[in-house]
Amino acid sequence: MRVIIIGSGVAGLTAALDLHPQHDVLVLTKADASESNTRYAQGGVAVVTSPPDSPASQVADTLVAGAGLSDVAAATVLCEGGPASVRELAERGVDFDTTADGRLALGLEAAHEHPRILHVHGDATGAAIAAALVDRVTEAGIDLRARTTVVDVLLDGGRAVGVRLLDGSEITADAVILATGGAGQLYRHTTNPEVATGDGVAIALRAGAAVADVEFYQFHPTSLAAAGNFLISEAVRGEGATLVDADGVRFLLDVHPAAELAPRDVVARGIADQMARQHGAPVRLDATGLGRDFLARRFPTIDASCRRQGFAWDVEPIPVTPAAHYWMGGVRTDVWGRTSVPGLYAVGEVACTGLHGANRLASNSLLEGLVYGGRVADHLNADPADPLVAPAATDADDSVGWQVPEPVDLGDAADAEAYNRSDLQALMWESVGLRRTAEGLREALDTLRGWRTPEVTDAKSAEDANLLLVARAVTAGALRRTESRGGHFRADFPATDPTQAVHSGLVLAR
Ligand code: FAD
Ligand code: SIN
Repeated sequence: MRVIIIGSGVAGLTAALDLHPQHDVLVLTKADASESNTRYAQGGVAVVTSPPDSPASQVADTLVAGAGLSDVAAATVLCEGGPASVRELAERGVDFDTTADGRLALGLEAAHEHPRILHVHGDATGAAIAAALVDRVTEAGIDLRARTTVVDVLLDGGRAVGVRLLDGSEITADAVILATGGAGQLYRHTTNPEVATGDGVAIALRAGAAVADVEFYQFHPTSLAAAGNFLISEAVRGEGATLVDADGVRFLLDVHPAAELAPRDVVARGIADQMARQHGAPVRLDATGLGRDFLARRFPTIDASCRRQGFAWDVEPIPVTPAAHYWMGGVRTDVWGRTSVPGLYAVGEVACTGLHGANRLASNSLLEGLVYGGRVADHLNADPADPLVAPAATDADDSVGWQVPEPVDLGDAADAEAYNRSDLQALMWESVGLRRTAEGLREALDTLRGWRTPEVTDAKSAEDANLLLVARAVTAGALRRTESRGGHFRADFPATDPTQAVHSGLVLAR
């Protein structure tokens, strides 16, 4: 059968390799084949390699980071499936760093009980994974078409039967897999590249699929406070770097016992609060104690980028600021990548299995792409005739409930006017970012609905239409969740409300 995969990051390419040659696989990707969030991943892949670490420990860490909202079954699938998927990745040519005595080098990141982060060339893990997977896909002769933007999924009787491209042409298929990554371009500050415009979620919404937990966006605590918001990996803090205020004093010790290695949302908000106390001035990451040779050896990519931008980080603390980094929410799927639309699947960052809950544990998402990219392929390989069972609204094996998706009107207001992307990014940063209030969210939603969905005439307008739709979805979701949990912080509801420990869901009202 023909399977179309949209996206060439770790999730899409893993699925492609695992579906080939049993199926006729076509990978469509809107930029160069290796352009994706995957390519920029630094810290590495979180996976259990040997005792005293265990899948149960990684599951426990995932659940703690997820702030009471993780789907235990989906997290267990991830952590138990991790070792085999990472072994397969190594066989596909990814050469993980080793210690002097030949053992795998294991990094430590925030909220992990054990060092378990595998990396390549120190901090170039994503680039190595992207290169190896693109090479293997090319060698296998899989049809991979770069610079090909998918605009929508074709439907027949409510079932996905192919895709429509930007030029208006249509390609039919028996199954369509969304592997389109995240939506960092919603925000003024983001670590994500330009391709991360939420296309998959917008496509799924228009196709009638349910999305879940869209209000949960993760802000990475430490991007360089300079043009481009280059990511300064959490692994730098894992190696001992500290965060200091304008006076050079560590300020996170009072915020959380784990200070710099507290969960990401805690650190990001702690930094934002400190920045507010400093009238917006960035805080500083002090890595000077690690020494020039170590920094250059362990973090060659970051080292080169800092120096290119004029920051001698071995000598002076560097300015850092939070930036939008990872979307926990996405297209609602079960643990086989099935969405609520028959024939439509989603894997990787675009999907929401619920495993990350309200806040993703560092370095769990490359692993997600590997494990779940493999699982959607396993499913289609095992049962190609019937990939069409939609997930139930609630899963029996889930400790956290799933709300029945609520139909929400996310259309343009009657008098909507043209908008530009930078205004949207500024609005989302100010009102739907690290701190949210009912008033700010209501105003933001009114503004977003007062902007007209652009007519799709080229790649940019297609992205703008998608960004506007997903911005409305995130804002509507954030307005509905009247509590604070993980990446979603409501200044007007600062406490976590145990009665809201439920995955949210929405579909487009028709
Ligand atoms: P992506 O890798 O983003 O791939 C999406 C693909 O879809 C791209 O090829 C894109 O061009 C394509 N696409 C999108 N829309 C369309 C369309 N309409 N038509 C056709 N193609 C389309 N995670 C970790 O686990 N460890 C880390 O160390 C780590 N570091 C990170 C550092 C940075 C700077 C960033 C940005 C992220 C990091 N992450 C890390 C997160 C992780 O990289 C991503 O979550 C993960 O790579 C997502 O993989 P994916 O395959 O789902 O999507
Ligand atoms: C990082 O290296 O800090 C990013 C890791 C991640 O996002 O998982």
